[in-house]
Amino acid sequence: MERVLITSAIPYINGIKHLGNLVGSQLPADLFARYNRGRGREVLFLCATDEHGTPAELAAAKAGMDVAEYCAKMHAVQAEIAQGFRLSFDHFGRSSSPQNHRLTQHFAGRLADAGLISEVSERQVYSNADGRFLPDRYIEGTCPNCGYDKARGDQCENCTKQLDPTDLIEPRSAISGSTDLQVRETKHLYLRQSSMRDQLNAWIDSKTDWPILTTSIAKKWLNDGDGLQDRGITRDLDWGIPVKKGTQEWPGMEGKVFYVWFDAPIEYIACAAEWVDAGKGSDWERWWRTDMGAQDVRYVQFMGKDNVPFHTLSFPATILGSGEPWKLVDYIKSFNYLNYDGGQFSTSQGRGVFMDQALSILPSDYWRWWLLSHAPETSDSEFTWENFQAGVNKDLADVLGNFVSRITKFCRSKFGEVIPEAGAYGAQEARVMADLQARLDAIKRIWRR
Ligand code: MF3
Ligand code: ZN
Repeated sequence: MERVLITSAIPYINGIKHLGNLVGSQLPADLFARYNRGRGREVLFLCATDEHGTPAELAAAKAGMDVAEYCAKMHAVQAEIAQGFRLSFDHFGRSSSPQNHRLTQHFAGRLADAGLISEVSERQVYSNADGRFLPDRYIEGTCPNCGYDKARGDQCENCTKQLDPTDLIEPRSAISGSTDLQVRETKHLYLRQSSMRDQLNAWIDSKTDWPILTTSIAKKWLNDGDGLQDRGITRDLDWGIPVKKGTQEWPGMEGKVFYVWFDAPIEYIACAAEWVDAGKGSDWERWWRTDMGAQDVRYVQFMGKDNVPFHTLSFPATILGSGEPWKLVDYIKSFNYLNYDGGQFSTSQGRGVFMDQALSILPSDYWRWWLLSHAPETSDSEFTWENFQAGVNKDLADVLGNFVSRITKFCRSKFGEVIPEAGAYGAQEARVMADLQARLDAIKRIWRR
């Protein structure tokens, strides 16, 4: 039987996701999983919460909770909402799982053995007002690439460029707004991904069937040169996966944790192990190790466009660099943004429609249908209440609802309560069936693999 491994970008733990997040990853991944199951394929569909990093620490502090407790609680909340939307994950894991701790430390050890990790004394931004280092996304400023004035220290949302906090022009603390920032020395591990440029370029060039959105972003950062700069994969934080070389201590790295973007994609793999340990399946290596059965698996990832550099460059660098036969992704489906009423959805500003609110307004099918039929595939699209209302009233209620209602009434009046046997079909039915079959075959040709 053909097998398909499907992952959705794993949502951050800090809060309930909005419809823009949903339509860019979890929902289309769910549609694809259902489609493949319908085709009779064996599917493993995985998602999880992305639990590390400063945002999780800060959200917990704001909620007055211990960060581990906060994450456990928010994982349960997100899992329940996912069920409300009927997202058919085989497992909804956690990047803070023991399985991910082990695997992340394992990958770091392998990369070190392969000579792909260097120790770098880094100058990092310390906020006097906040009394802490301010990593990546908690420094805001102007993007040196496009001039966007709310760029974050890890990435500019506007032009997708991956950044270092010290690249920002006029930086300020996103926690307090303070500009009383200071650069201090601290030692960190760097992944020498620049040495893998040729390998990654060749790999992406071989993906001739990928969506243009995916390859154009990947190529842009590969060929611009600095998209594949060596990157720090450790942080001075309390919460996260402790830096170890496999199971060994890493001298000089005591008290440090791996960077959230290093361990998060590894959770795609660890999640399969969690799925087995939860008693829901067996033999996760059969999905992930090409020396243990996964050579026949087709692996498809779903994500918003801001996630593309991490999935086309950093994560493949981790996999390839390990020198072990892990499964690489076969197809990356990425999405543009769904905007909200003339602007962006924003979790931090509470702007937009959030998944829990949506479910309290209407059953999930209304949202699933509207969102999937307006998925931002070729360009950004927009949610407005007027559009949503008009679409539901017209296409769902009038067109589809009316159609079903008329047909069922008609059938009942002609045939009673029992559907006629096959074979009783005449020439017209045969024509409709042939027409439908031709369309099904066309879809199958597109999604042949
Ligand atoms: N948490 C990230 C986001 O919401 C996505 C992480 S995807 C993974 O943008 F690859 F890191 F797992
Ligand atoms: Zn920018």
